[in-house]
Amino acid sequence: MFEKIKIFFEELETDSLESKKDVLEDILSLAKEEGLIEIDKGKKVDDLKIVQTKYFGKKGIISDLMKYMGKVSNKDKPILGKIIHNFKTTLEDKLNQRFTVLKKTEINAKLETEKIDITLPGTNSQRGHKHPLTLVEEQIKEIFTNIGFTVVEGFEIEEDYYNFERLNIPKDHPAREMQDTFYLNEDVVLRTHTSPVQARIMDKMCPQLPVKIIAPGKVFRRDDDSTHSPMFHQIEGLMVDKNITFADLKGVLLHLVKSIFGEERKIRLRPSYFPFTEPSAEVDVSCGNCNQEGCRVCGYTGWLEILGSGMVHPSVLEMAGYNSNEVTGFAFGIGIERIAMLKYGIDDMRLLFDNDLRFLEQF
Ligand code: PHE
Repeated sequence: MFEKIKIFFEELETDSLESKKDVLEDILSLAKEEGLIEIDKGKKVDDLKIVQTKYFGKKGIISDLMKYMGKVSNKDKPILGKIIHNFKTTLEDKLNQRFTVLKKTEINAKLETEKIDITLPGTNSQRGHKHPLTLVEEQIKEIFTNIGFTVVEGFEIEEDYYNFERLNIPKDHPAREMQDTFYLNEDVVLRTHTSPVQARIMDKMCPQLPVKIIAPGKVFRRDDDSTHSPMFHQIEGLMVDKNITFADLKGVLLHLVKSIFGEERKIRLRPSYFPFTEPSAEVDVSCGNCNQEGCRVCGYTGWLEILGSGMVHPSVLEMAGYNSNEVTGFAFGIGIERIAMLKYGIDDMRLLFDNDLRFLEQF
């Protein structure tokens, strides 16, 4: 086709186009027929794009024809323009029509294959839930905030000074051996209990009264078996004010136990020893498994040990700046794992840390 057009214009030379325009029109009408057939043959949008380039591209027939516009005489320009225009618009219209049809077909085909069947059953995403330790911690926090306690937090990495000395446990005190301590250096430890928060909060509050806080958090000891883990959780409780007595401690703990385990449960306080409380008491809850008949869970005693407590030692109050002749206080430390194990009947503490979903899903 290019060739025929080229020859036509070569032969045209100086002759006017007007007299020979029939010849050019014939050539182009053939070209047009050919083009229309090619457009019809295109079955895909991509096929059509190839045809489009052939006619309308930079090196296509139309841009080739346009070159001759510059070469013919001014008089012939409108004649050639008209012929080219006619050729061009016919093909253009046809191409556009065909593009529209093919694009629609392709979109429909795509929609067909990507169709979503909304009647199919969906895949359920697994729903997360709270860890039993979190449940127990949240419950205890709620019990205490309901009676006016504030929740505070201490540091997991703690100074020896707060973990021990401020709690009446000097460097050579034998009580240090009760707690196998992870030392980071001579003066810094991973806290072995939440009790250092007692000293820290009293430092902050003194001389204000009352101090009425609980402090939940992680604690660390060099211990690892079915009832001990090197990391476990405690909740510290501290109340300091004028006229706080041992009866207040007992009342608060009974309220706690009944709220967690049920109204029918009882508590028992046994004399104990902690350097930072005097007197000190170990607190037991009546066994709910056997109703105190005696069973394996309670070691045939009818009682289960759940926490340590006592009246804040006068020295501990004094070190914080309180006058121990005027104010008194009680404190307690609850092991969250221990409570969770009793509440849910878990017999190995390690289950709480393995994070086996088959275990966790039961709560
Ligand atoms: N800190 C003690 C422990 O971890 C528990 C405790 C807290 C005892 C507060 C008395 C008062 O064993």
